[in-house]
Amino acid sequence: MFYKTKAFLFGTTIATLLPFTANAQTTPRPAPRLDREALSAMAIPAGSTETPDARATRLVAMMTLDEKISLLHGHFPRSMRALPADVSPSGGYFPGVPRLGIPALRETDASLGVAEAGASGNDATALPSGASLAATWSPDIARSGGIMVAKQTRQRGYNILLAGGVNLTRDIYNGRNFEYLGEDPLLAGRLAGASIAGIQSQHIASTVKHLVLNAQETGRHVVDARIGDAALRESDLLAFEFAIEDGSPTSIMCAYNKVNGRYACENPNLLTGVLRTDWGYKGWVMSDWGAVHSVTAANAGLDQESGEELDKEVFFGAPLKAAVLAGVVRQARIDEMVHRLLRSLFVVGAIDPQHSLGSLDVDGDNSVALAAAEAGIVVLKNENNILPLAANAGRVAVIGGHADIGVLSGGGSSQVIPYGSVRLAVPLGYPGSVKGPVYHPSAPLDAIKRRAKGEVRFDAGTDIASAVAAAKQADIAIIFVEQWALESVDVSPRLSSEQEALIAAVADANPKTVVVMETGGAVLTPWRGKVAGLIEAWYPGGQGGEAIARVLFGEVNPSGRLPVTFPEGLDQLPRSRPAGLDLNPVQPRKFWESKPFGVDYNEGSSVGYRWFVEKGYRPAYPFGFGLSYTTFTYSDLAVVSSKPLKLALTVRNTGPRSGEATPQIYLQQGPQRKQQRLLGWAKASLQPGESKRVEITVDPRLLANWDVQSHQWRIAPGAYLINAGADANDKRLAVRAKVASATMRP
Ligand code: BGC
Repeated sequence: MFYKTKAFLFGTTIATLLPFTANAQTTPRPAPRLDREALSAMAIPAGSTETPDARATRLVAMMTLDEKISLLHGHFPRSMRALPADVSPSGGYFPGVPRLGIPALRETDASLGVAEAGASGNDATALPSGASLAATWSPDIARSGGIMVAKQTRQRGYNILLAGGVNLTRDIYNGRNFEYLGEDPLLAGRLAGASIAGIQSQHIASTVKHLVLNAQETGRHVVDARIGDAALRESDLLAFEFAIEDGSPTSIMCAYNKVNGRYACENPNLLTGVLRTDWGYKGWVMSDWGAVHSVTAANAGLDQESGEELDKEVFFGAPLKAAVLAGVVRQARIDEMVHRLLRSLFVVGAIDPQHSLGSLDVDGDNSVALAAAEAGIVVLKNENNILPLAANAGRVAVIGGHADIGVLSGGGSSQVIPYGSVRLAVPLGYPGSVKGPVYHPSAPLDAIKRRAKGEVRFDAGTDIASAVAAAKQADIAIIFVEQWALESVDVSPRLSSEQEALIAAVADANPKTVVVMETGGAVLTPWRGKVAGLIEAWYPGGQGGEAIARVLFGEVNPSGRLPVTFPEGLDQLPRSRPAGLDLNPVQPRKFWESKPFGVDYNEGSSVGYRWFVEKGYRPAYPFGFGLSYTTFTYSDLAVVSSKPLKLALTVRNTGPRSGEATPQIYLQQGPQRKQQRLLGWAKASLQPGESKRVEITVDPRLLANWDVQSHQWRIAPGAYLINAGADANDKRLAVRAKVASATMRP
């Protein structure tokens, strides 16, 4: 039922609101006390230049089998029967090896802020959603968000952040699209990498997750994601490859689902073939929580069992020890698993005690969240320049979307709940384990009131007649609409019928109607022709209301660009509803009891906009699209060099305001076939009248195809038709680049 429209968001009364206030749970944990022996074991000997590898080797040699095994399976503190006094009910906990001074490993989610497994109210700063970050197209913003979250992670005594969600948006209904970074491997991978690099610069270890094809939530523990090898290399795996190259994450979290018939967490092709043999990855592989199915997963390449309370058995506990003693898993493999873990933690300094914590900078952290939210907001429609609003534009009606309370956020393990957040009641029809939607305390209504000189009236939008009356009495109507998305459930890509009816009625009543969407990802917008202005604000985080108002009133010139295609209708998509939904309408508590099924990703590597081009479909809004309050021209596209392929173009601000352009270049046609791919982009901040020549270097893998036979990337020689412009459908500039034949080992 939760897959259907979200009518429940209406009709919730203020009496059901539960504001979160300060509690004691979030006090930083004291670091474990180290005794002398421990210090001497963990420390780098004075004057030595011991490498992380050598240090890990030394420690592994000192450890007993039991001590090694203790690092290879860990708890989900929230589900522990008896929570140790110094452990927060967060994502993960391993007690460490006190005898050798190896401290506890303390893990928390995630990229969007310190989630502490949804601790009810803490002083964590909530970043905007991943989809919003992807809409910034800015590795700099990703990096600064990573630094901010990592500092707060350290403040709370954790050393590992379960960040780095980079699964491609293959399906519009995936309930976790809001956590991820859109539909393109280059964009997603580069941003994930920048965020991870930011996190690890603060001596916090980070994951990248979930390897791979965890592309829908329905039946996520059992679904078999089926795809060809070449297609996988050129799409979802490529996103991980970029993220790993740019971010060097200490660990990779393998996914719940199967990939081509084998569980991702015991899939030797992925965990050993791709990761180790091809990519030379040196970190450790941790399982997702409840994703381990056997002891022999260790032989396939899994290094660590996370959240053991959620598995059928603690496979990497006593059964792993027994398997070692029986010779089923080699002792050398255990040493390798522990070595990878310790070495990686030493590389980033995650378990060394010397790094001082410093004090929290609440204002600074809020400004990181505000800048990210502003840069992620995408203006999709601006008829007759209805935006930006003038402060003296007259009376404003603000309607719906709980705009009086705050801004919506996505649910599940990444859920950050800062003080002052409000959680609504669990919507009808949702499984018992689900908690209601959380609103971050940054009400757009208040932010609008602070700016508008005329009267600002709020209408909850629950009664259409009342909303219409409010819109009629106003000069401008701003409707807030929402789509709540959360982990473990897939969502409807359509707004609720009540919200669609509200938009139609208000737009009929007032031609100056602007819609602001707070959605997890792309949604259908069949009503957009009726409204004058349309803004995608995603889940804009702890400063979201302020960011939305700043864009509405032109204090910020919008620069966000879509990281996903907005389709015209479901018939344009490779799949219109989640596979397995009828078999598994609700995720069972015992995950392994879900009914198995498969999804064939027949679109292969033609994800998102590439699919639209191949099929000749015209989307509602293309990938890369976004309006500005100024105008830009793009000219003089030229090939600067062919090896590496480098292109240049000129961008000019031809409008009245300073603004930021995001010129994008796309492959349209290779020598052998039509094949659209984002090859690169630039960000150019321009004053009115200013122009800049930007250069974009193309990663050769984006010109290549994966050759399954010879197990390498292969570039076909010939002329490559390349377009440049403002989005994936913009073909105003074209150039042909001659590229030589080449092969590249992974
Ligand atoms: C999610 C992971 C998360 C983990 C720990 C799992 O259910 O899939 O993304 O890191 O829980 O909270």
